Amino acid sequence: MKNIWFPYTQMKNMTPPLHIDRGEGVYLYTKDEKKLIDTVSSWWSTIHGYNNLEINNAIKDQIDKGSHMMLGGLVHDPVIKFSKKLASILPKDLDHCFFSDSGSVGVEVALKMAVQYFSNQGMKKTKFISYKDSYHGDTWKAMEVGDDPDYHKAFKGNNTPSNFYVTPDNINELEEVLKNNSKEIAGFIVEPILQGAGGFKIHSREYLKKARILCDKYDILFIFDEVATGFGRTGNLFVADEDLVPDIIILGKALTGGYLGHAVTVANDKVYYEFYSDSVDDSFMHGPTFMGNPLACAAGLKSIEIFQRENYIEKIKNIETILNRLKEIKHPMIKEIRVIGGCGCIEVYDNKILKGFKEYCYENGIWNRTFLNFAYLMPPYIITEKELSHVINTFKRWFCDVNKDVL
Ligand SMILES: Cc1ncc(COP(=O)(O)O)c(C=O)c1O
Repeated sequence: MKNIWFPYTQMKNMTPPLHIDRGEGVYLYTKDEKKLIDTVSSWWSTIHGYNNLEINNAIKDQIDKGSHMMLGGLVHDPVIKFSKKLASILPKDLDHCFFSDSGSVGVEVALKMAVQYFSNQGMKKTKFISYKDSYHGDTWKAMEVGDDPDYHKAFKGNNTPSNFYVTPDNINELEEVLKNNSKEIAGFIVEPILQGAGGFKIHSREYLKKARILCDKYDILFIFDEVATGFGRTGNLFVADEDLVPDIIILGKALTGGYLGHAVTVANDKVYYEFYSDSVDDSFMHGPTFMGNPLACAAGLKSIEIFQRENYIEKIKNIETILNRLKEIKHPMIKEIRVIGGCGCIEVYDNKILKGFKEYCYENGIWNRTFLNFAYLMPPYIITEKELSHVINTFKRWFCDVNKDVL
């Protein structure tokens, strides 16, 4: 293992990671056959759990026809069908799909699109607005629109200061920034409703609707980063819907059912047609090698088919009801318990109370990974009531029995 450099980790004193042999449904199996409920869906992506036979077969069928073909000058059935499907499930004219290989790159694509949308019209607008404590990925510009020192403090100050960070749900603050700076701002990028890595914070939909109006008023693009929220996490297929339509949306993580790294940045007509002209200079000059990869598209198509056929929205409602039981946990160290859709989070005042929690979960047959002051759950949607109740009872015992005297 000494050749692997692990993410977000001090390698010198890293606790050895669990060695996983295989995944099956909601379970991960370690090499020594410990069976663990995965409560974080492998970084919020494996919404159908592991080893889903239908998705496996969709990928296998496609492998026999070709595992990769470039999109530059070539096209193939999986990408044609997948983009058509995405356009049909996304609201209004969010119809123009630009694929890439990860959520961070999908964000980069959206930001570049926004800047060029204006430069194609002869305007120089290069700055962005985003939320305080936002997280949009780890690549350079995604880090810059992010405001998460826990992840990116080594780079803060090295970035060009081309961003404004606003307090979520404060519409007056947003308007103030726009009033004074809109001539240089290309877009407002948000993790709509649910801020993930910034601390599982839940915000209002009404604010987003007002922000939509302001973005139009001040001629800036509204960008939804639904890499984490997309495909049901907040209880709806997407936060974007017929009443709340961004100009650009980014999807990733669960886009392929968590099978393969892929993302898509989808633009509306307004954005797309600023690039569509007789001039080659107006073209969007971006093209990841693996964009529209046929295996990823085949997995994604099957994933959406299952999501719709098996009525996952109903499943997520049930998960939300059960997750709400987290709120019965009382402990003076708990600051707040938040639940929305398929996401539940316990925020504590001091993370000393979470020390040993991962190991306690492990002993109880659960894979969970806290970070900072948050113990959170984002399980695969196939989790049963019995399995999720076991998880919640384990969380409860940790606070109310094992640590009842920790203050
Ligand atoms: C809201 C949001 N945007 C972007 C990303 C980056 O996605 P990726 O890790 O696939 O690059 C993440 C990852 O957690 C995310 O939560």
